[in-house]
Amino acid sequence: MSARKILVTSALPYANGSIHLGHLLEYIQTDIWVRFQKSRGHECHYVCADDAHGTAIMLRAEQEGVTPEQLIARVNAEHQADFARFGVGFDNYYSTHSEENRIHSERIYTKLRDAGHIATRDIDQMFDPVKGLFLADRFIKGTCPNCHADDQYGDNCEVCGSAYTPAELINPVSAISGATPEVRSSTHYFFKLPDFEAFLKEWTRSESLQPQISNKLQEWFEAGLNDWDISRDAPYFGFEIPDAPGKYFYVWVDAPIGYLASFQNLCERESIDFDSYWQKDSDAEVYHFIGKDIVYFHALFWPAMLEGAGLRTPTGVNCHGFVTVNGAKMSKSRGTFIKAETYAQFLNPEYLRYYFAAKLSSRVDDLDLNLEDFAARVNADLVGKVVNIASRCAGFIKKQGGTLSPRCAEPERVQRFIDAGDAIAEDFEAREFGRAVRRIMELADEANTYINDQAPWVLAKEAGREQDVLDICSVGINLFRQLVVYLAPIVPALAEEARVFMNLTTLGWNSRSDVLLNHPIEKFKPLMTRVEMDKIDQMIEVSKEDLAVEKKLKEDAAAKSEGTASPLISEPLAAEIKFDDFIKVDLRIARITQAEHVEGSDKLLKLTLDIGSETRTVFSGIKSQYAPEALEGRLTVMVANLAPRKMRFGVSEGMVLAAGNDNGIYLLSPDSGAEPGQRVT
Ligand code: MSP
Ligand code: ZN
Repeated sequence: MSARKILVTSALPYANGSIHLGHLLEYIQTDIWVRFQKSRGHECHYVCADDAHGTAIMLRAEQEGVTPEQLIARVNAEHQADFARFGVGFDNYYSTHSEENRIHSERIYTKLRDAGHIATRDIDQMFDPVKGLFLADRFIKGTCPNCHADDQYGDNCEVCGSAYTPAELINPVSAISGATPEVRSSTHYFFKLPDFEAFLKEWTRSESLQPQISNKLQEWFEAGLNDWDISRDAPYFGFEIPDAPGKYFYVWVDAPIGYLASFQNLCERESIDFDSYWQKDSDAEVYHFIGKDIVYFHALFWPAMLEGAGLRTPTGVNCHGFVTVNGAKMSKSRGTFIKAETYAQFLNPEYLRYYFAAKLSSRVDDLDLNLEDFAARVNADLVGKVVNIASRCAGFIKKQGGTLSPRCAEPERVQRFIDAGDAIAEDFEAREFGRAVRRIMELADEANTYINDQAPWVLAKEAGREQDVLDICSVGINLFRQLVVYLAPIVPALAEEARVFMNLTTLGWNSRSDVLLNHPIEKFKPLMTRVEMDKIDQMIEVSKEDLAVEKKLKEDAAAKSEGTASPLISEPLAAEIKFDDFIKVDLRIARITQAEHVEGSDKLLKLTLDIGSETRTVFSGIKSQYAPEALEGRLTVMVANLAPRKMRFGVSEGMVLAAGNDNGIYLLSPDSGAEPGQRVT
């Protein structure tokens, strides 16, 4: 078998958010495949980078009061720390905001332009006159032209689901400044994707695409390919388009080119021949691992751009589905939107690598992280089966000096374990990790059964059976060694400790064929502990807190920027209710007849409210904003039919209405003329 040259990428995560468990599916899947290829002795390079350009990052930096460069540098360091925690072993982790990327982007664009694949056209677009920038659809909000729901995005309504253009929105506002957008015309640059229709049809017929992806592409072909708008007007955080002052490459242009740039950067550091990977007749293989949401970019735009620029196209685009947790989309409020860092605070990253591997196939299906199943499976398989083999054998060997038997008592069994590696390798190669794991666990079962049947702990108590005990346990360690070689791409940290324990120089795939005879081993240390359910619960709780912290940060940032909270960072709307639901809430005009401090509370005021027919006592958390004496005599609005609530300081018989965040609390008051006791509808 000759060594293959393989370049592998994962999608470049956006530089304005934390890595979460959804992302990790992709990086773990890719990393397992890469580690497998390296273990097989191939020349395999794994590169990635932060996707650092675009409006969102520009605005985020502004909100935080830092430059985009500062923001992306900070996030880059965070991302790299997260990946390191999960054993994702990139050979290079770079940024799309790099000189290499600028050069490659300009080069590819110029080639496309000179070959006639770029067109320009004037288009009308919404423009924010306060911020001085063109607004992408998601930065425009307004009233839905169909159902008249307020506060809907510029392209579709979340209430009635209808799609429209921002121009059709009623009362559109910029979600960034709140200003009314104007329609302005500007020249845009387009990549003429239809020029590549024949080429793309041919390319997608190649066997390297998953059937689900090929089908998707057929649908797109049938719908017809369109020119792709690749320019954005200044101000934009990105690369300026050559010979087009004030025009920038849309972030999705230089993002995939970032694969080349990151690899280029690696090539310079390690003297690898870049062109031998990317030139048209290259004999190297190139694979992109991506999620199902970005297929369009990787299976249409990207190969067309490469083809148009005279470069080779990917050997494969390997697409995975989305992670759900406990059967539902990851949710911040349920605490299942779990950041990599939060997970690692509570649980061993290798558990997750194993669980993902056990459930991954080569298909595009979504993958459910069921947390109970996760705990049960890791405990049963990794701890109960695999680690158990070594822990049951090691002690007996140590007692006899710590060296394995000079003979193999079960040559056929050991050979079968070695031979099984061929089928397991095929599974890894085909990204059928779940199937590989099943085979490995079958072997683990067999190894355990062997040890159970031989029961060295019984023999150890009998006189003169030392050699038998040593032989059995030495077989056990040899079987364990096979399992460790097979599992190493999945759980590299566990495998590394096992390697040290077994005194091996390598866990390379082929090393498994030398049976360990007369071989010294080290003292056994527990290789992995069980998953504890309460750690999982704590992780969920902290993830809920993460949400609160995030909200607070955003509010602080908003306060810092303009002093006014932008609608972009406001609280999401609660679920829609019927009028019948609303009318159940009895809102009344109330006069505050008395307001007092509450002894022992730094938040609450005790209010006495006159609502015409009766008097109510209400405790309200408005002390930070209002002096009691300033409130007396004032009118406000209260919820009069709220069930009484027992608080530490007394019973609260309702609630007064106030808007509030960390910037302030604003008690509602009616216009003059309203009377205590009037119903508010
Ligand atoms: N920046 C683009 C990719 C540019 S590649 C030239 C992007 N970034 S992302 O941060 O949103 O996503 C990075 C990868 O993580 C994507 O492949 C995406 O599909 C994947 N995932 C993000 N959330 C995911 C889940 N919940 N589940 C599985 N994968 C998910 O897209
Ligand atoms: Zn609507």
